[in-house]
This record gives sequence, C-alpha cells and structure tokens, in this order.
Amino acid sequence: MTDDFTPIRDAVAAGRGDQFEIEAGASMDHFTHRFLCHRYDHRHVADATEKNGQEQSPGSGLALSTPVVRLVDVHKSFGRQQVLRGVTLDIPPERTTVVLGPSGVGKSVILKLITGLIQPDQGEVWFCDKRIDQLHRRELDRLRTRIGFLFQMAALFDSMTVEENVSFPLTEHTEFSREERHERVRKALHTVGLEGVEHKLPSELSGGQKKRVALARAIMLNPLLVLYDEPTTGLDPIRADGINELILKLRHELGVSGIVVTHDLASARKVADRLVMIHDGQIIAEGSFSEFACSDNPHVRRFIAGQWDPCEDEVVSNEWSPR
Ligand SMILES: Nc1ncnc2c1ncn2[C@@H]1O[C@H](COP(=O)(O)OP(=O)(O)O)[C@@H](O)[C@H]1O
Ligand SMILES: [Mg+2]
Repeated sequence: MTDDFTPIRDAVAAGRGDQFEIEAGASMDHFTHRFLCHRYDHRHVADATEKNGQEQSPGSGLALSTPVVRLVDVHKSFGRQQVLRGVTLDIPPERTTVVLGPSGVGKSVILKLITGLIQPDQGEVWFCDKRIDQLHRRELDRLRTRIGFLFQMAALFDSMTVEENVSFPLTEHTEFSREERHERVRKALHTVGLEGVEHKLPSELSGGQKKRVALARAIMLNPLLVLYDEPTTGLDPIRADGINELILKLRHELGVSGIVVTHDLASARKVADRLVMIHDGQIIAEGSFSEFACSDNPHVRRFIAGQWDPCEDEVVSNEWSPR
C-alpha cells in the first residue's frame, strides 16, 4: 500500500520537534482542544499541503478498494456502560459514509476513536496503514494533520477572529508567511461560501456561518478524511442544506473521504454514498439510502419512520443506572 505519510515523516525527521503550547480562549471540550492544539510543534511540516500532492491532484490517491479507516471488532465502555460492542467497519476513500443512529449510541465515540482521542478497550482502529490505537502521541499528532474535524458545536476560538481561527492549522503546522496564510484563508472561506468575514469574531456570526468557518478550518491542510459530527444539528433546514451542499462539494471537487455522523435523515439522504446504522453497540445495517428505506430490519425501519423505539431509550438510560 502507498504510504501516505512519507512526505510528512520526512519533513519531521529534518525538523525541530520541540514541544510547544499555545494560549487560546475557546469554548470547547478537552477532546476538541486536544485535536486542534497538538502537543508537538509541527511547523516543520511546512508545505505538507503541497508535498502530499493533494493540491495538484485532489483526492486520496488510494486505490478505491483500500479503506481510509478500518475498525475491527472495536469495544468501548465507560465505567459500566458498554457503548460499542464489537464494531467492524470499513470506510472507503473518496466517498461519504454516513453513520446513523439515535443520540447516545456512540457515534461521536467512533469519531474520537478514529482520531485517537480515546482508545478502544478491545479491537483495532486503522487509518490507512497506521494502527491508531498503538501510535505514540507524536505520531498521532502528525497523523491528525491528515484529518479534518468539523465539531458538533463548531468549536471556534471565541477570542480569535475568523481569519485567525481558519489559519490556526497553518500557524501550527506550517511555516507559510503571513501573506500566504492570508491568501489560503481567503481561498478556504471562498470554498465554503463566505467572503468578507475575516475580521469578525465568532460571536458576530450566525450558526450556519460558524459551521462554515469551522469547515474552512477543517480543510486548511488538505485532509484526506473529514469527520463531520452532526453537521446540520441546530441549523434551520435551509442553512442545513447549505452545509449538505458543502459536504457534497468537498467530496466531488476535492475528492475528500467523509464520515458524517448524524440523526438527520434529510442530510443522510442527500450526502451519503453509503450508510451504516449503529444499534446497541453494533453495526446492524449498511447500504444505500434506498436500501435503508426498504430495509426489513425493525430498528432501521423505526429510525427511518421516526418512530419511538423503547430499546433505544434503554441504551441511553443505562448511563444513569445506579447499578
Ligand atoms: N468521555 C466519556 N466519558 C464517559 N462517557 C462517555 C464519554 N464519551 C461518551 N460517553 C458516553 O457514551 C455514550 C455515547 O456517546 P456519544 O458517542 O457522544 O453519543 P452520540 O451517538 O450521541 O454521538 C453516551 O452515553 C455518553 O454519555
Ligand atoms: Mg454525538
């Protein structure tokens, strides 16, 4: 298999590699912060965006049969709560895979496992040819530069302008000049359909605009894979559709592989090349939207029909069980 990390690894071997910290005010949980603010200085990965060839030739460059992500029999519990109970899943490159399921079934947990923010109790998590759950922190930080993450709450740094937020990955991982960064921010904002907002603060943006800014930040390093956590939640149907259009655009124009976790069926129908559904800690169905729409599986049928399923509530209620 092609080693997609060679350019980055070479650059790092020749670089400084000092630990560093940044100061930033942000309303985000510690997982989000850890994903965005790496422990090691990777600015010597400068120009990785060009070196990995994606700017010249969009797309992952992987054979279509090679999964970008593989989960093999993954188990994950928090205390007594068993969230994932043997999830096996392949994510194909240059396609959008939608992970469907009601709240609390472990959709975000899957995204955290893929980015190495949490470890499985059992099983394997692969990103291309790297086994995520066995990587050292430094290598994990480096690998995260290949993954864009659109967080559920956008997770912008409140005290930074849009320009500073979007250029954050460049500041952290490249040595581009101020002018180059400015130009790349402008291009990324153009890609997500925003102009002239560079000097605004997140508090001055609408919910839809915040998601777009967060998406611009997520694609700054030309990621191989973009993870979208509930990308349309909290948006009105028109703005939600705008985000769906952007997901399609990134897939078709940039060849980005995508994983969208959602419970929004309209979004799933529009963006999915393939859907998988989680129920009771396992993948219980996979296929196209039309296959889901005529599925015999009772959980899929209830979910698609929007009918209350007492079993789902049982899964969520375990969290609060005093046992
Ligand atoms: N870091 C954590 N510590 C304890 N419990 C967690 C943690 N992350 C997730 N959980 C629990 O795992 C379950 C699944 O969470 P999550 O993946 O966020 O659900 P969703 O499918 O809505 O994204 C929830 O009950 C949640 O409370
Ligand atoms: Mg979630």
